[in-house]
Amino acid sequence: MTNLSDSPDRFGLISRVFHWGMAALFAAQFTSAAAHWALPRENTLRETLWSFHTDLGITLFVLVVLRGAWGLWNLRNRPAHDGQIGGAAKAGHVVLYGLMVVVPLVRIVAAAGGRRGLSYFGMSIVPARETAIAWTQAVSEWHGELGWTLAAVILGHILFAVVYHRMIQKDGVMERMA
Ligand code: HEM
Ligand code: HEM
Repeated sequence: MTNLSDSPDRFGLISRVFHWGMAALFAAQFTSAAAHWALPRENTLRETLWSFHTDLGITLFVLVVLRGAWGLWNLRNRPAHDGQIGGAAKAGHVVLYGLMVVVPLVRIVAAAGGRRGLSYFGMSIVPARETAIAWTQAVSEWHGELGWTLAAVILGHILFAVVYHRMIQKDGVMERMA
């Protein structure tokens, strides 16, 4: 029977669904960001991809909070990370979580404190206001840079999992998340 919760030798179904489901959603989110960065303003593909950036970004924020809570709940039963490499892996996962929270959060705060307000799938969460709250706009200036930093850390994470664990060490680390 498939375990829903994590165990010392394998991540459970819920953690694996969070991991792979969110990996797919992050791929879509970075595609929209890359099109926004690379294509000219009037390009239709850019506009189509950009049209879901905010709603998907808020969705990812909610999902990472739920995933983090599930991870903490399961912390004592998760696969262990021993030695120096294990310690580095743990630190890497903490950095991933930190950026997964901060990147959308600064933009959500900016939208909530901005003149247009914050909407989610057409539903108004924070109404428009006459003047923006200055500090909320200042923090959001880091959104793009931090977003690309997250992309780079994710790339390192994938390379480490596939090249180091799966191809060189063949130590079963990949299998416990697969
Ligand atoms: C985890 C979720 C998110 C990721 C990974 C992400 C990533 C990015 C990246 C990499 C850029 C830079 C694009 C460029 O260089 O042209 C960007 C821009 C932008 N994002 Fe996001 N984003 C996320 C969530 C959000 C949310 C929740 C909102 C709105 C509430 C948002 C609104 C924007 C806006 C308006 C820009 C263009 C202005 C700027 O660069 O700050 N994003 N995003
Ligand atoms: C092809 C893409 C990916 C591969 C092959 C991959 C592989 C893995 C593997 C094998 C583990 C288990 C590591 C261990 O037991 O120590 C893991 C854990 C983890 N991965 Fe990935 N990953 C991918 C994409 C992503 C993405 C896109 C993110 C974040 C945006 C991410 C974030 C994490 C985090 C935070 C963990 C720690 C466990 C948890 O809390 O879920 N991964 N990954």
